[in-house]
Amino acid sequence: MKRVVVLASGSGTNLQALMEHAEQSKHWKVVGVITNTPGATCIKRANKQGIAGAVIDHTAFDSRESFDYALAEKVAQFAPDLVVLAGFMRILTPVFVERYLGRLVNIHPSLLPKYPGLNTYQRAIDAGDRHAGATVHFVTAELDGGPPVIHGKVSIDAADTADTLSKRILTEIEHNIFAQAVDWFCTNQLDFQAGKAYLNNDLIPAEGFSWPLETPLPTTSS
Ligand code: GRF
Repeated sequence: MKRVVVLASGSGTNLQALMEHAEQSKHWKVVGVITNTPGATCIKRANKQGIAGAVIDHTAFDSRESFDYALAEKVAQFAPDLVVLAGFMRILTPVFVERYLGRLVNIHPSLLPKYPGLNTYQRAIDAGDRHAGATVHFVTAELDGGPPVIHGKVSIDAADTADTLSKRILTEIEHNIFAQAVDWFCTNQLDFQAGKAYLNNDLIPAEGFSWPLETPLPTTSS
């Protein structure tokens, strides 16, 4: 059983989806959830499932590096195989990223490499894009710049606002593609070598696999 630690800052609907998938899997389980936000709903969700939660309040630290060191130490206590950033709203420095390189994934609400950073939905609407989406990628020192694993897209309707778009991407895309990526990693199909992502030893396309997969790839999650 692979051990997955989830870092989250807010509501934790991605965490919820991951915990529900984990319950169906014999290959991985969520062993701990860490937040930087005291009182965050994600910890309540974890506790409800009997999963340990921890709070490391970033405002108690005087530098990003000192926070990242404390966070990395807390993560290490859970002895994770994989660390998952599920709406973790802190930029991580190399102090954290280098320690967990190759076993650290994030979900970002855009079709990377488009729109790293914040306000992704509004930026896609303002640019007149026909599609928006989300991407799971390995984390490197470059913000939202590590190699994509899988993405999914929705079309942008004329009536869409950042709010309607974000809700659709969250429920239709994020809650599905994240579990797929974790599943691949925890069945030893997905890995990171020299800055690139591979699935079953094949280089993953630059924008990641497109979900839903045309030809479902083998998975042994349940
Ligand atoms: C998601 O949209 C994720 O892509 C972004 O933050 C949001 C977190 O949502 N990084 P939730 O806390 O999982 O509901």
